[in-house]
Amino acid sequence: MSEKKRIVSGMRPTGPLHLGNYHGALENWIRMQDTYDCFFFIADWHALTSNYENPGDIPAFTRQMIIDWLSAGLSPEKSTLFIQSHIPEHAELFLLLSMITPVPWLERNPTYKDQMDQLKTKDLSTFGFLGYPVLQAADIIIYKAQGVPVGVDQVPHIEITREIARRFNHLYGQVFPEPDAILTKSAKILGTDRRKMSKSYDNAIYLSDAPEAIGKTVSQMITDPQRARKSDPGNPDVCNVFEFHKLYSPASLVSTINADCRIAKIGCVECKKQMAAHLITVLTPLREKNEYYKDHPEIVDDILRAGEEKARRVAKDTLMEVRAAIHL
Ligand code: TRP
Ligand code: SF4
Repeated sequence: MSEKKRIVSGMRPTGPLHLGNYHGALENWIRMQDTYDCFFFIADWHALTSNYENPGDIPAFTRQMIIDWLSAGLSPEKSTLFIQSHIPEHAELFLLLSMITPVPWLERNPTYKDQMDQLKTKDLSTFGFLGYPVLQAADIIIYKAQGVPVGVDQVPHIEITREIARRFNHLYGQVFPEPDAILTKSAKILGTDRRKMSKSYDNAIYLSDAPEAIGKTVSQMITDPQRARKSDPGNPDVCNVFEFHKLYSPASLVSTINADCRIAKIGCVECKKQMAAHLITVLTPLREKNEYYKDHPEIVDDILRAGEEKARRVAKDTLMEVRAAIHL
């Protein structure tokens, strides 16, 4: 056993990763690899809870996700990387936890209610969708994680995880630590239309985008909405393009733009071109690594196999304890 604290987190494979995913989660995971014993997995079963009518895309999205992770800097030498459905022990623990989880805990889960309201086109009145947090709890406590790096939207799920772990320990004896949510503040990055960056809004820039695609998407970005003409002075403080400059451009350029925009010395078209050039510089190595892993599928397979073996060893040990505690 390493002395590092163990953390576990997962992502649903719903499409290629975009900058919002990168700054919202992946960047933190990459940083945490040196200080924690990290288990990161692709939550393909969780993707199924809301996409059970169209499961066909999930394998390709899963493959793209592991490639995006590796390209961005998750390292199989530092972290245990795997696919949820390859560890059937999660499903057994999910079943056992479902015996002790009161349905009202799930019915009052705020993300359950939100999603039911928002995804009106999908029939989410399934047992699996209601049980989403129970599966998530199994994902986490099967590795006896002490922490779970997540966004604020996931805090209710971690709270339910803690309640389930506590209830298990109370009924059958101490087996599970109660994991803490680890919230890391991240750059809030907006999509081209200034809404939250999301695949479903068609406003995202993807880590694997080619330079032409980046240039085109950036050219469509909404700038300072008050600035109608090039001769009007702009306000970088309310401009999404400027937020991108702060993330990807050198400090000297950021301060030049900050000054020139306010006196209409630079126009938005030129400003976007400069930002796109720097964003392309940052993303080019990621795209090249993407291509490399796509050309060498056996390397990706080996990484997943090794991660899976390690995760399964831990998961199996925990399940032995669990079965014994329940007298099975
Ligand atoms: N529910 C998480 C999300 O949508 C994904 C997830 C599944 C997860 N299992 C997990 C996150 C376990 C952390 C730990 O983002
Ligand atoms: Fe935004 Fe740049 Fe246009 Fe100023 S010049 S409004 S910072 S895009």
